[in-house]
Amino acid sequence: MCNIAEIYNSSIGKKQIVAVTGLMLVLFVIGHLAGNLFIYGGPDVYNAYAKKLAGLRPGLYVVEFGLLAVFLTHIHVTSLLVLENIRARGERYAVYHPVGNRSFATRLMAISGTIVLAFVIWHLLDFTFIEHTGPRSILGDGKSYGLYGVVFNAFADPLHSVLYVIAMLAVGMHLSHGVQSFMQTFGFDHPYYTPLIQKFSNIFACLVTIAYSSMPVYVLLKA
Ligand code: HEM
Repeated sequence: MCNIAEIYNSSIGKKQIVAVTGLMLVLFVIGHLAGNLFIYGGPDVYNAYAKKLAGLRPGLYVVEFGLLAVFLTHIHVTSLLVLENIRARGERYAVYHPVGNRSFATRLMAISGTIVLAFVIWHLLDFTFIEHTGPRSILGDGKSYGLYGVVFNAFADPLHSVLYVIAMLAVGMHLSHGVQSFMQTFGFDHPYYTPLIQKFSNIFACLVTIAYSSMPVYVLLKA
């Protein structure tokens, strides 16, 4: 019978853990995007959504704790796989130097993943762990607009917005290759459906990147 320790100790098991936690994070990214699109409804609509979400506490703490555990597991197990790869490559390098699409894609995943990690830490400090009715929520008319004001003020700063869009590109790149890795890990390989799913994952990642990036761009144009 299969147990967690067995999965964790094998390479394929680790890849499966990364794939499943990655899928959970994709679901969060979709849900989070849907919620944040309420920004287009204006301050009342956006703040009402944030209030409704906050009203789900203390149950929401459990979900957030679960999300954190999934995120940390994804990073930890990915790091173990990277170390395994480096060690294996060190042994192989004595014989030959493998260069190809796969190692390029893996390197892109490492770079985009690191940018996403840095972004999430910055993002939490930016929007979550700050006072939602404090000075950063006050707009041009001197009134506090709650969380809407915090997000609006952040994106009204061009540098802030440009950094967000760069982070969203990294999120998109990580997503598109992540979906393809997921299929590979679970051995899904079909002459017709595999290229189709690859195309779908690229389109999906582009849509997520465009939809997230549209928010800083919209605020910049409105400010
Ligand atoms: C334009 C893009 C985005 C906007 C406007 C946005 C907005 C927000 C806001 C306002 C919060 C604080 C919610 C609260 O404290 O009530 C938040 C939290 C969070 N965001 Fe984002 N976000 C964006 C993109 C992203 C992306 C791409 C990710 C993941 C890669 C992400 C991950 C998170 C996480 C993990 C939290 C904390 C959990 C939570 O409070 O639900 N965000 N975001």
